[in-house]
Amino acid sequence: MGQNEFQISGIEAMEILDSRGNPTLRVFLELKGGVRVSASVPSGASTGENEALELRDNDPDRYGGKGGLEAVARVEGIIAPALLGQDVRRQALLDRMMIDLDGTETKARLGANAVLGVSMAAARAGAEVSGLPLYKYLGGAMARRLPVPCMNILNGGAHADNSIDIQEFMAVPLGAPSFTEGLRYVAETFHVLKGILKGRKLATSVGDEGGFAPDLPDNEAAMELIVEAIRQAGYRPGVDIAIALDSAASSFVTKNGDYDLKWSGAGIKDTAGIIDLAADWLQRYPIVLWEDPLAEEDWAGFTAFTRRFGNKIEVVGDDIFVTNTRYIKRGITESSANAVLIKLNQIGTVTEAADAVRMCRAAGWRAFLSHRSGETEDAFLADFAVAMDCGHLKSGSASRSERLAKYNRLLEIERELGAAAEYYW
Ligand code: PGA
Ligand code: ZN
Repeated sequence: MGQNEFQISGIEAMEILDSRGNPTLRVFLELKGGVRVSASVPSGASTGENEALELRDNDPDRYGGKGGLEAVARVEGIIAPALLGQDVRRQALLDRMMIDLDGTETKARLGANAVLGVSMAAARAGAEVSGLPLYKYLGGAMARRLPVPCMNILNGGAHADNSIDIQEFMAVPLGAPSFTEGLRYVAETFHVLKGILKGRKLATSVGDEGGFAPDLPDNEAAMELIVEAIRQAGYRPGVDIAIALDSAASSFVTKNGDYDLKWSGAGIKDTAGIIDLAADWLQRYPIVLWEDPLAEEDWAGFTAFTRRFGNKIEVVGDDIFVTNTRYIKRGITESSANAVLIKLNQIGTVTEAADAVRMCRAAGWRAFLSHRSGETEDAFLADFAVAMDCGHLKSGSASRSERLAKYNRLLEIERELGAAAEYYW
């Protein structure tokens, strides 16, 4: 085998189903030397306004218009011919070629799903042909920090049918000595929580991300319950396991920019009202991270929130930044947050997601890596978290195999790293 073994010799795609039963893409990429890999693309529900475009067929006769055959056609008809013969290890160049081939701000021509599938598959093939695990191929020989698994155990908002406004309540095992132990801490807490819910005759069915969505009276009741579960599981709230929130506030902002806590019935609050509420909760509950406390267009609100709490907790922007360096740059200038949620399909290439992480690091911000509500068995995210030194990630609950696939892959990576592995908040 000569230099040729690295050359891309084939790219194909097919429509598969994500964890919600909606179509998404699987891309197959082959090299001249015989390496053949695949990668599967995630898909979100509560998408930010400025996210890269997910191409759908809009054919009402197939999957309610959500078909992915158009995206398959763009991979095979436009992207593949352009990339054939290229050295797969030139990831940044391949991604650049696809960005240029697309030519739009939001990947509207090729579709971010088509582009990301190829980008992920190229990274995986590059690792394989280089004889390296994906996290080392992308992150280098020093990549050895496992992320703290922020486990989404309780849901509200648009992700549930109850009286809770906050979309996600996560258990954060920040006091654990390792990823393996941290995962055990929060998985045990998940089981204890289930027992408590059962005992109170509350629903224990799980949502798209594997968390419970019981019919609780309000947001505070959810946090009381989590603190109780942490204690009952034998851990110290705030020391061994803390709480992280994702308000997904864009889902309850009103037309004039106020916030309607409609699910709990707590009424309408302006930005200052939300900040007051946050101050109260931060005093009462061991919250260490708060994602999207305000809506994506409330830049001033984000700045005010961060000014008030940014030295105490991690303030994460998801919908406001959409993993796009253009918005992150503005956020850094305006001190809108101190961390960015990183979702590969919000931006559409592995290189651009890595750029977003690097921009965070240069500003002294943190990067919080995330799955989507629609996931597949592909565990790319796990390797990417270690490669990028993200330090924490969210991949749903201790339920549903598409969520566990990522956590299980991280268990493997920690085992493989052995004594070199690092884990800290
Ligand atoms: P999504 O939600 O994947 O459904 O967009 C996740 C989030 O808001 O973080
Ligand atoms: Zn979010």
